[in-house]
Amino acid sequence: MNIGFIYYSETGHTLSVLEQLKNALEKEGRNVRMVPLLCDNTKGVRHLGNRPDIAEFDFVVIASPVQAFQLCQVMKEYLKVAFSTHQFKYALLVTQQLKNAFWGGNSAIRRMRKDIDAMGGLCMAETIVHWGAYDRDAQAKEAIEAIVDAIHEQE
Ligand SMILES: Cc1cc2nc3c(=O)[nH]c(=O)nc-3n(C[C@H](O)[C@H](O)[C@H](O)COP(=O)(O)O)c2cc1C
Repeated sequence: MNIGFIYYSETGHTLSVLEQLKNALEKEGRNVRMVPLLCDNTKGVRHLGNRPDIAEFDFVVIASPVQAFQLCQVMKEYLKVAFSTHQFKYALLVTQQLKNAFWGGNSAIRRMRKDIDAMGGLCMAETIVHWGAYDRDAQAKEAIEAIVDAIHEQE
């Protein structure tokens, strides 16, 4: 199975969860391609700097932080231009600082699902990790397990 992670990570939190997920999958002998979304300017108004191809993966993990109480602008812009000509399976990972998902996590997940389902994606797992939570590591572990399980279900 061709597995890819398409992600944006500005301060490294989302990336660190993905790296743990990658390690878990590699221990099972799977290959994973990490595809970062680039941002042209993290000091001001952020815009997407590249447009990776989502269609090359059978299973794609799409991961993003919350910024300003919503899905970050870079991921929003990517999901507007991304497309696929065939159905694909995907899992979502969102990270946010605040403990409650309603500070932007839930709306980020909804927004991602709406756009990705519209391009032919089939959602297999939705996960949120709250970076400021006392149990952050446990949340990350649970998210990783949920995504690994979703990948196992494809076989
Ligand atoms: C510009 C900016 C805006 C943010 N806005 C929010 C927010 O509205 N709600 C929230 O819960 N966290 C917010 N955060 C925190 C990030 O969502 C959180 O630290 C996340 O894990 C960062 O992921 P990253 O390191 O992969 O970029 C914000 C962070 C930045 C840099």
